[in-house]
Amino acid sequence: MTGTTQDDYTDRYARRVRGMTTSEIRALFSVASRPEVVSLAGGSPYIAALPLDAVGEMLGELAAQHGATSLQYGIGQGTIDLRERICEVMALSGITNASPDDVVVTVGGQQALDLLARLFLDPGDVVLAEGPTYVGALGVFQAAQAQVRHVAMDAEGLIPAALEEAIEATVRAGRKAKFLYTIPTFQNPAGVTLSGERREQVLDICERAGLLVVEDDPYGMLAFEGEAPLPLRARRRDGVFYVSTFSKTFAPGLRVGWILAPHAVREKLVMMSEANVLCPSAFAQGAVTRYLSTMPWREQIKVYREIYRERRDALLGALEDLMPAGTTWTRPTGGLFVWVTLPEGLDSKAMMPRAIAARVAYVPGTGFYADGTGRGNMRLNFSFSAPDRLREGVRRLSGVMEQDLAMRAVFGGAALQHTHQRRRGPAAADAPGPDLA
Ligand SMILES: Cc1ncc(COP(=O)(O)O)c(C=O)c1O
Repeated sequence: MTGTTQDDYTDRYARRVRGMTTSEIRALFSVASRPEVVSLAGGSPYIAALPLDAVGEMLGELAAQHGATSLQYGIGQGTIDLRERICEVMALSGITNASPDDVVVTVGGQQALDLLARLFLDPGDVVLAEGPTYVGALGVFQAAQAQVRHVAMDAEGLIPAALEEAIEATVRAGRKAKFLYTIPTFQNPAGVTLSGERREQVLDICERAGLLVVEDDPYGMLAFEGEAPLPLRARRRDGVFYVSTFSKTFAPGLRVGWILAPHAVREKLVMMSEANVLCPSAFAQGAVTRYLSTMPWREQIKVYREIYRERRDALLGALEDLMPAGTTWTRPTGGLFVWVTLPEGLDSKAMMPRAIAARVAYVPGTGFYADGTGRGNMRLNFSFSAPDRLREGVRRLSGVMEQDLAMRAVFGGAALQHTHQRRRGPAAADAPGPDLA
């Protein structure tokens, strides 16, 4: 029915759709993309840093000279040329024992997560995941009707003792945990990195518990201070599914990612993917393959690193100078995000309309938890905006926070509470749109 919010199809939806709700926050994000708003909300790489003319020329050639294959259907697993290149890319991160035969090309890292969920999760199964975690993964697990149990992190990433506890609690509750979903390096949204020592501990714990590991690594190459610790998959081959993407090192618009899977499982993933998308885009794969074989992609990653390091420094400096007392934040050594913990009593979700009115946007912490927690946190992105815009954004944000703190001092906590409090199901109801993921 056009023009109303009534949904006449409600009774017909599958069960997995029931937890899916749009949130007020989503509506605010549409305003957040206006140019006068400083958006600290996005998860977008700074595409303007790419040599766009050269990329354009390459794409033109791909259609004009190789259109017979690049504009045709391809095979479900992805082209062998690209899978070989992907093994070279992984070798740079320290995964040196990967075979192109065990790589499945996907429509971004997002489809990789979806395929793994389809392959392993029955309704009611439990997924262990960092708290907070990637909003798009929460959406996938929710669609699979799985339950997410969060595992706490600190400045060194996932806390091994908390993981053990979560495994035990799941068993006590009579549930089955199928896998640990983890973003060990430059985590989204927390910006922290699992230390080398803890990587071994986490792998040992999962192995003892018979828990598979899904390692999601879109950011590992975007290190600002030396190299990131070796991926989990470089340390252990069995039971680890490695997921990555060209979205953050090349271009998210191409939608090319991959899974490196244990050999036995690879065929099942291909079948799942064929049922899902037939095959990943041959054109996009051709574009990535040509990019990796004819353009200086390693140098481009260095360019991204330099730009993001400068922007991270600008954001951290602005937070240091401008944030109200009692605010704390993480200090990422790579990636795109800083995770902020607000002073006692402030509510990032309730504050959002006031922030938008002050022309600054962020993602409230609630988007990154399956259980509705996270009101005391927010995620800030530093990859997209120039240093002076980042500082201006933090200036506006701290003004809003100061006002909320003053209100709280006068009227107490109730003055700041959200007006539409409602109990959240397992859905990531605050999930922002894809460009904010
Ligand atoms: C942790 C994580 N995993 C997966 C993705 C999905 O990326 P894409 O589907 O663009 O490859 C993202 C995107 O922001 C992410 O942050």
